[in-house]
This record gives sequence, C-alpha cells and structure tokens, in this order.
Amino acid sequence: MNPFHPDPNTFYLMNDERSADPGKIIIAIDGYSSCGKSTLAKALARTLHYHFIDSGSMYRAVTHYLVEHGISLDQLHSLSPVEMEALLDNIHITFRVNPSTGFSEVHLNGKNVESFIRELKVSDLVSPVSAIAAIRKRMVKLQQSYDDHKGIVMDGRDIGTKVFPHAELKIFMTANNAIRAKRRFDELCAKGYMVTMDEVYRNIEERDYADTHRSESPLRKADDAIVLDNSDMNEQQQLDFALNELKRMGVEIS
Ligand code: DC
Repeated sequence: MNPFHPDPNTFYLMNDERSADPGKIIIAIDGYSSCGKSTLAKALARTLHYHFIDSGSMYRAVTHYLVEHGISLDQLHSLSPVEMEALLDNIHITFRVNPSTGFSEVHLNGKNVESFIRELKVSDLVSPVSAIAAIRKRMVKLQQSYDDHKGIVMDGRDIGTKVFPHAELKIFMTANNAIRAKRRFDELCAKGYMVTMDEVYRNIEERDYADTHRSESPLRKADDAIVLDNSDMNEQQQLDFALNELKRMGVEIS
C-alpha cells in the first residue's frame, strides 16, 4: 500500500469498531502553516488505519460561513456573548468520508465545503477568526469529542497543548518559510486557484505571526513534542521518522 495514494475502498473515519482497540493511540501533529502537517497525518492514518481529522478545516469552515453571510471581523468582535453563541449555534460542522479518497471531508450545515475553504479569502481571515475565544471553545469541544475513538491522527496548532494534552505521540512540524510558500503555491496552482507567490508568502507570514501571538492557545511546541523540521525531507522520509518513533514507543504498526 502506498500511504500517499489512497485506496478508494478503505475508509479512515467513521469506523466505530476501532474505538475499543486498546492498542491505538492519539497522534497530535502541530506546527506552522503549510508545513505538510496534513500530508504526514494522512499518510500515518493510512498506514495505521487511524482516523484523520484536519482541525484547521473546522476553523476554515467557520470562516467560510462568515464570508458567505457577509459577517466581518468587526461585526464579530462587536457581538455580545449571547449573540456569539447564537451565531455558533447556526454553524454545524461534521466530517464525512469521501469514498474516492478514503478521507473525511469537512461539511458545513450538511454541505461539503472542502473546495471552498482553501480560497485566499478564507485563508486571509481564518487566523483572526480562530483567535476568538468563543469560537475556539466550540471547536476544541468538537475535536475532543473524537477522543472516544482512539486511533486518531489530528493536525492543527494546539492539538498537543490543548485539545489532547495526553496524546501519546506529539510531533511539532516546522520548515523554512520559502519552502513552505513554494509548497503552498504549487498546491494551490494544482487545484486551479489564481494566486501569486507573493500573496502566498505574505499569507504564511501573517498567519505565523497571528497564530503564535494570539492570547488563546497560541501555537507553541508542547514540552513533550518531538520536532520535525522537514525543509529537506520528502514525504516518505517524514513518514519513516514518525513510524520509527512509534516503533520506539512499542506501538503496533499493522
Ligand atoms: O492548518 P490550516 O492552515 O488549515 O489552519 C487554518 C487556520 O486555523 C490557521 O491559521 C490557524 C487556525 N488553527 C488553529 O488556530 N488551531 C488549530 N487546531 C488548527 C488551525
């Protein structure tokens, strides 16, 4: 099996039979934007037959909702706590498996929004949106609800520090800025988005700053996380790095 190319007949989420498996652990992957967190997380999920959850897609789905409803950041900040809760009550985020990739995709109020949430209009707003305490609280609660299942690979910014501080394996990913921008640019171009390299670079720098300087759960390495700087590593080398760590921990790799 090639972990970077999905087997369409295999599903990696919603298989509740795995929930009781005591050999399965939680893997938290945190790090800067465009470091390849999701790529590694998906490869691990495929290899280990774990659930994969992209927590950033949840903040992106909320941001997409706000963009679609013409709700600005200023308006958001002027909401009373009661109004904010009422707004969040209208935003239902779920994951459903895409049978052709085998991975879960984020749905907003029942609609698959995967293809909208990577647009720059969402990327430009998502960091300030994700810094809002009430929004984080809802998302963290939803993310923690997956704890029952075990056998989870979740990637984000605060998974090892806040969402699953008890995760058995925590990886903190980083890479050189120019390399991250080039990777994101290539990825967006391949998906048909019209962007310039400058825009992508600027967005990455702005998000790094916002993610590391916010007051609510800023991005930081958990004390017990291992650092993976993948500037000069290919996908297979990163997967091997994580699998070696799991073997060292005595985790069963089927
Ligand atoms: O991983 P991503 O680039 O798709 O995440 C989008 C934004 O969401 C990112 O700028 C920071 C925020 N985020 C967060 O605050 N906490 C998480 N666990 C995941 C993402």
